Amino acid sequence: MSDGVSDVRFDICVVGGAGHVGLPLALVFASKGLRVLIYDINENTLETIRKGIVPFMERGAEPLLQQALERELLFLSSEPEDIARASTLIITIGTPVDEFLNPVLKLIRDCMQDLLPYLTCNQLIILRSTVYPGTTDWVDKFLRSHGKDIKLAFCPERVVQGYSIEELQRLPQIISGTTPKAEQEAAELFELIAPEVVRLSPMEAEFAKLFNNAYRYIQFAAANQFYMIANSAGVDYHRVLQGMKQNYPRARDIPAPGFAAGPCLFKDTMQLGAFSDNQFTLGHAAMLANEGLVLYLVDDIAKTYRLERLSVGLLGMAFKADSDDIRSSLSYKLKRVLEFRAKTVYTTDPYVKTDRELLPLDVVIARSDLLILCAPHSDYRHLDTKGKPVVDIWGFLNKESLVGVA
Ligand SMILES: NC(=O)c1ccc[n+]([C@@H]2O[C@H](COP(=O)([O-])OP(=O)(O)OC[C@H]3O[C@@H](n4cnc5c(N)ncnc54)[C@H](O)[C@@H]3O)[C@@H](O)[C@H]2O)c1
Repeated sequence: MSDGVSDVRFDICVVGGAGHVGLPLALVFASKGLRVLIYDINENTLETIRKGIVPFMERGAEPLLQQALERELLFLSSEPEDIARASTLIITIGTPVDEFLNPVLKLIRDCMQDLLPYLTCNQLIILRSTVYPGTTDWVDKFLRSHGKDIKLAFCPERVVQGYSIEELQRLPQIISGTTPKAEQEAAELFELIAPEVVRLSPMEAEFAKLFNNAYRYIQFAAANQFYMIANSAGVDYHRVLQGMKQNYPRARDIPAPGFAAGPCLFKDTMQLGAFSDNQFTLGHAAMLANEGLVLYLVDDIAKTYRLERLSVGLLGMAFKADSDDIRSSLSYKLKRVLEFRAKTVYTTDPYVKTDRELLPLDVVIARSDLLILCAPHSDYRHLDTKGKPVVDIWGFLNKESLVGVA
């Protein structure tokens, strides 16, 4: 084992534990006194975590990491044999869709195949990645067909990225198991951190997770389509939204328009689409509205400006506000479209560390003829654009005028 601790036993091993879902979960369990092993194939990220550094933005995570390392409750390894010393394995590896928008089941299968030689029959395995409906039953059959009579549960993650430490301990946890014993053991484990557990069957739990995300994606799509309809009619949608929401409880949850993408909502909606033989019409329509907003925006700008003469500055390349995560960010889709149509595109982001093309904010403002607010980071709240025009579909920069909106 990488830490030189070869005889330690672990309460939990988080497989994929260096990732956005795995690491906060490992830290929250360690903060409750459990001995946690992070197993991950990304040795570079493990090295960063070993130094007490959280490799991405996650509120409240770094003090927990340092505490867990000091209390010797957190261990890190990229060697699969170490998983044999954990009572419970929690699988949090990525589950993307492929270029045809179908789920990549191979990743789960390969992961289980790699773990197989080290699994012991008393272990509880908890799938936590978001999975295609039926995956838990598939894993159960896979394990049994390889002679592993293992307790298997599916307990999806439903927190908002960046706020996991708080939400893991505040939101109900959905629990399901392929046997009553697996379900009960998973419930007892999550009762250590979550205020409430909700019991479903594995297939119900898989749907619940996907429906939660697809519903959110559809809500964003409705907001974006309303925006495009009003804007095309020359009406300020933010005034309409303010009017719709003011002291009107049934409109309280209508989101503001804006880029809706990221590592979960889009791909989970597409997983449901794939599951339902591409008949998830609302999901596909939501994809057209959310992804289409970028092209709409460019066409709308082209009505006022001669794009081929325009230097455009994109503010915020992360997929959402106050995040450093650029996975499936629509800011990059916008960048690609503008690289075809505008004279120059400059990009900036106060948090993103993984893109060498980013420039400092003041340089982007100075060089650009037009700015587009792509991610409404708090850092931009009092943005001085030096008189440069800004396209702000979020209605973020003139939020003062929306005082009173619920
Ligand atoms: N990011 C979120 O906010 C969020 C929220 C809810 C659910 N989810 C779901 O959780 C899952 C993980 O998402 P994420 O954002 O944490 O992904 P991520 O890419 O940040 O993390 C996945 C980690 O798994 C590791 N990994 C990949 N294959 C492995 C293997 N075979 N063995 C060991 N480690 C392996 C990677 O190195 C990486 O560190 C996905 O199914 C996602 O849909 C994500």
